Amino acid sequence: MLERLNQQPPDALLALIKLHDADPRADKIDLGVGVYRTGQGETPVFGAIKAAEQRLVNEQASKSYLGPEGDMGFVHALMPYVFGENPTRGGRIDGMQTPGGTGAVRLALALAKRAGVTRVLMGTPSWPNHAQILSDLGLELVAFTHATADGLADLDALKAALESAGEGDAVMLHGCCHNPTGIDYTPAQWDEIARLLAQKPVLPIIDLAYQGLGDGMDEDAYGTRAVIAAVPEALVGYSCDKNFGLYRDRVGALYVYAQDGEQLGRVLSNGHALARAAWSMPPDHGAAAVRMVLEDQETTAQWLDELTQMRTRIGQVRAALGEAGKAGSLDLLPLARGRGMFATLPLSKEQIERLRSDHGIYMAGSGRINIAGLTMGSLPKFVAALADVTA
Ligand code: LMR
Repeated sequence: MLERLNQQPPDALLALIKLHDADPRADKIDLGVGVYRTGQGETPVFGAIKAAEQRLVNEQASKSYLGPEGDMGFVHALMPYVFGENPTRGGRIDGMQTPGGTGAVRLALALAKRAGVTRVLMGTPSWPNHAQILSDLGLELVAFTHATADGLADLDALKAALESAGEGDAVMLHGCCHNPTGIDYTPAQWDEIARLLAQKPVLPIIDLAYQGLGDGMDEDAYGTRAVIAAVPEALVGYSCDKNFGLYRDRVGALYVYAQDGEQLGRVLSNGHALARAAWSMPPDHGAAAVRMVLEDQETTAQWLDELTQMRTRIGQVRAALGEAGKAGSLDLLPLARGRGMFATLPLSKEQIERLRSDHGIYMAGSGRINIAGLTMGSLPKFVAALADVTA
């Protein structure tokens, strides 16, 4: 039977990690997978997480099983950050812990499928794993254009896609810091999207994986809160990989906004059943550390401060790229307007390959760069290399 399986290529984005590690050049630049890096090119554990982990080691009395819902203290501690005031909306929102943001998106889509969803409208380009998960679940992707040629979020394309949408459709939206373009809907556009969604029987699924890395914790939740204020039901997939720096610990949550408490319990019971059949229960350590950070005022303030430093540095790199203006024929100004860790450069496969072979610069095959992979020191080399390959 196993002979029937064809060889699959490694995940293109994750394969970049190994390619970069194997490159002996001292001045190589990794702009591949989305991890935050400091001005020294490092991805340290947050000080607030270290402090919480220390307490966890000292205080944790047992590692016995929780349940498929994971650490509900963690799930609830995050809710005021995601949903703002009245985070349960009168008992209509609750959630469960998932293995990372990917687990949250996977579970959201599996739940949507159980509820009768067959098609998912999604702006493209999107995070490549979105399409892979849809395909694995046998859900149809209905693609619309995410951004206009002049680098703005394309509301008209979303509107047109929604025109023909109806019962059995879901729409997948990036809550903030769009991956891979860095081009977000403006608050006014979110208001309009919320109004449009309210008129259609489609299920909004929001992937919120970079809260705090765009304009701020509240600002980055604007779209999620606007949609929830307008529609009767929605799912929100959340990741703590970036904003708590917990990448490999796999910390995420799925939140359900239901029509009432009874429906909420029913939807979550399906989430629990799906989780039990897939991973039984999520890994605990990272979520427990996040809970402990958020239960303590001092570590909460420390975490928010560390997050602000990250956001500020990303903004500085974006501004410096904008100030560079042009690299060969490439206009860098739009990069200054983007949000979060990513931007997509209009480069050909050959140009991306030359950046790698001639300059030791690694980026996704789509032309996506991780802005946080640049430092003020490496930026001039990057701009010169872009000028070289686009000349
Ligand atoms: C990315 O897009 O680089 C991150 O979300 C990491 C991942 O899992 O793909």
